[in-house]
Amino acid sequence: MAIENMMNWKIISGGMGVGVSSPRLANVVSKMGGLGTLSGVAADRWLARMLQHGDPDGKIRAALSHFPFRETAKRIIDTFFVDGGLAENQAYKVLPVFTFKTPKILIDLTVCANFVLVMLAKEACASPVNINYLEKIQLPHVYSFAGAMLAGVDYITMGAGIPIQVPGILDSLAEGKPACYRINVDGRTEPAVQKFDLAEHFKEEIPKLKRPGFFPIISSNLLADLFMTKSSGSIEGFIVELPTAGGHNAAPRGKFPLNENGEPVYGPKDVIDFEKIAKHNKPFWIGGSYASPSHIKYAQSLGANGVQVGTIFALSEESGILKVYKDQIRKLAFNNQLIVKTDLLASPTGFPFKVIQLPGTLSEAAVYDARTRICNQGFLTTPYERPDGIIGFRCASERFDQFVRKGGKIEETAERRCLCNGLIAGSEMTNPGEPPILTLGDDTSFLKHLMKHEDDTYTAADAMNYLLSEETPA
Ligand SMILES: Cc1cc2nc3c(=O)[nH]c(=O)nc-3n(C[C@H](O)[C@H](O)[C@H](O)COP(=O)(O)O)c2cc1C
Repeated sequence: MAIENMMNWKIISGGMGVGVSSPRLANVVSKMGGLGTLSGVAADRWLARMLQHGDPDGKIRAALSHFPFRETAKRIIDTFFVDGGLAENQAYKVLPVFTFKTPKILIDLTVCANFVLVMLAKEACASPVNINYLEKIQLPHVYSFAGAMLAGVDYITMGAGIPIQVPGILDSLAEGKPACYRINVDGRTEPAVQKFDLAEHFKEEIPKLKRPGFFPIISSNLLADLFMTKSSGSIEGFIVELPTAGGHNAAPRGKFPLNENGEPVYGPKDVIDFEKIAKHNKPFWIGGSYASPSHIKYAQSLGANGVQVGTIFALSEESGILKVYKDQIRKLAFNNQLIVKTDLLASPTGFPFKVIQLPGTLSEAAVYDARTRICNQGFLTTPYERPDGIIGFRCASERFDQFVRKGGKIEETAERRCLCNGLIAGSEMTNPGEPPILTLGDDTSFLKHLMKHEDDTYTAADAMNYLLSEETPA
């Protein structure tokens, strides 16, 4: 049977970083007939911190016991596991950042972390599981793909850039060849290459890896055409994401006006021609305020297999958003008081980013101003060529003077938030001393079907049951 004929999910749970699309969330969605998605973004931080939280149910260590390279798994546990969890005043182990000379411990941690995420999502689940990455965060990819594939990941979704080289890299890994990722470097015409040879790195025999299906996340039918003609290997379908979706969004095309809140206004040039996408005869799913039974039907009437939904799962019990924030957000949204701003400046990537306006978080000017700028996670840095020819890394959210010293323009730094630290702080990884930043999609109207009162909560299974139901008026 062609792989495409099997992809009949009406619902894909969106990949939500950092740590929001947790293994337990993906597990429920896949078990209930959807395609459950993990966030693979900053997976290394996730694994290190979960082990330092003491891995209370032992599941992470159990998953690591299946990692094919035993010595490595043992070293990761020996390095990071803290029996009973860190005491409140104990600091997390400081992790290095990715560069072109990434330390072995970070490579091992990344491969193991992606392996563990997939293993946990597949627990007692015979259905496929998906993992999501952001193209923009390029340096960890070769290690992340390898780790997820070692655990038999079934699909990979990827947006925030044009991941045209990824299908070919997945082919290489499945053929037992090294993975080579071409990394854009500011100031150079030729990309630099990040190479990873699993066999050479682990110095052991590599099991045969299954090639996962690949779904690029696109925001226009032109991008669908591009993938159909230029992709480096097969793609199995598309996720079509509208600008109301949570997380990063594509900017409007060309020059665009702003509304009274300073948010971008999308116009006729941004309208997606779904007929043109359907003509490619690939399955596709539509994401962005489509979390209702009637939207699933509507998406199908446009030729889609179904929808990709994020916000509805982000607010469910199983998501990795820290409970203290999730409870507040659900309550505000239930009372129609939640404000989510499409912020043009918050993300150092330059992409618009949806920011929840919540007291005590980086959405508040005072909290932003009070934070000492520091770049110590490094996922969103841009590689650039230094005058001495060496590749350096800079981020518009790092210290102003450092960014400028590295050749960055001061005007690029205004209002930039540290998404790396902020998103980790808003997740169950926790990030002492760092204020959180939280993101969500524009639409939370589904809550009236899932909550009876403002302090009510719901599970991912409740969300699945609602989405798969015949909608009744609330
Ligand atoms: C909290 C949150 C984090 C997100 N992070 C990512 C991400 O890391 N990568 C990605 O491709 N999409 C991300 N998204 C988008 C979702 O995968 C999904 O496409 C989107 O949420 C669908 O729209 P909806 O939120 O209206 O349901 C995120 C969405 C949310 C709500």
